[in-house]
Amino acid sequence: MQSGDIFTRSEGQEICYLGEVPSLVNIDGELMPPAQARISVFDRGFLYGDSVYEVVRTYGGVPFEIEAHLRRLVRSADRIGLSLPWGPARTAGEVERTLEAARGEDPPDPEAAPWNAGERYVRVVMTRGAGEIGLDPALAVDPKAIVIVQPLHGPPASAYRDGVKACVVGVEHLSPRAVDPSAKTGNYLPNVLAVREARAAGAHEAFMLDRDGFVTEGTTSNVFAVRRGAVATPPLAAGILEGVTRGLVLRLARELGVPAAEEPLRPADLEAADEVFITSSAREMLPVTRLGDRLVGSGRPGPVTRRLHGAFRERASRPARP
Ligand code: PDD
Repeated sequence: MQSGDIFTRSEGQEICYLGEVPSLVNIDGELMPPAQARISVFDRGFLYGDSVYEVVRTYGGVPFEIEAHLRRLVRSADRIGLSLPWGPARTAGEVERTLEAARGEDPPDPEAAPWNAGERYVRVVMTRGAGEIGLDPALAVDPKAIVIVQPLHGPPASAYRDGVKACVVGVEHLSPRAVDPSAKTGNYLPNVLAVREARAAGAHEAFMLDRDGFVTEGTTSNVFAVRRGAVATPPLAAGILEGVTRGLVLRLARELGVPAAEEPLRPADLEAADEVFITSSAREMLPVTRLGDRLVGSGRPGPVTRRLHGAFRERASRPARP
């Protein structure tokens, strides 16, 4: 393990850092500091993971690809029959309002990658609400809309420069037949257990396999392999989340003339790859240079990953508004 592999704070995704400034929570339109943000113990998001969510990050303080994220939120809610307390326009407005209210100076972080410094992590959560205890969704009476804004603790500059370690874990990916993993719901227990396994192996990210041994996705990322200059990532039919970053990276690859396929991958394909990288909103693209105990390719971030990340950086730095 290299000391840089596990940067729990830097994942930003899983943890709300209570008390950190400038962080702010919006519950049903009411803004409050994190320490005052409370949800009923009868909320079904808490009891059953009966909720949907999105994670968006900012560039220059402006949420990136928010329309795509809010479209996915609607799709996720449709898939589980959850009626969203706010539509996309109201949600986008509340995100803006919360970001605006959370403006402030972050303490300087010398480790931060320049594109992550001073930016915000935005988590939108909608739960089916509280109600009498019982699984029947009809018992829910009080749906909640929540926006959490906090400093973005993206991976440090060293992780982009040197790559990170990932591993294939024994925890099985949720079967599309059991729970629809393409819906971004609060049901993350398998992913939590996969992270637990990864941490024990000193790895930053865990790749979960499906019942037939095919690679699906990371716990909070999509995975790509590069072989002889061509990019491959598991197809949506693998039951994975349709990552907004995944979609953008596939489009960028095609624009750059890099062959890009959505095809089933086995762990052996990752091991034999010249390059592996992961994608997620909070991380952009992160090179995976070690897989379990082996090096991926040369053990350094490869040329295709660097080229695509360059194109991604350029796209993300373009001002989203005139
Ligand atoms: N999740 N797969 C899973 C299981 C995820 O949880 C995520 C991201 C992704 C990547 O999706 P996107 O490119 O749209 O961020 C793939 C967010 C970041 C999270 O839970 O923090």
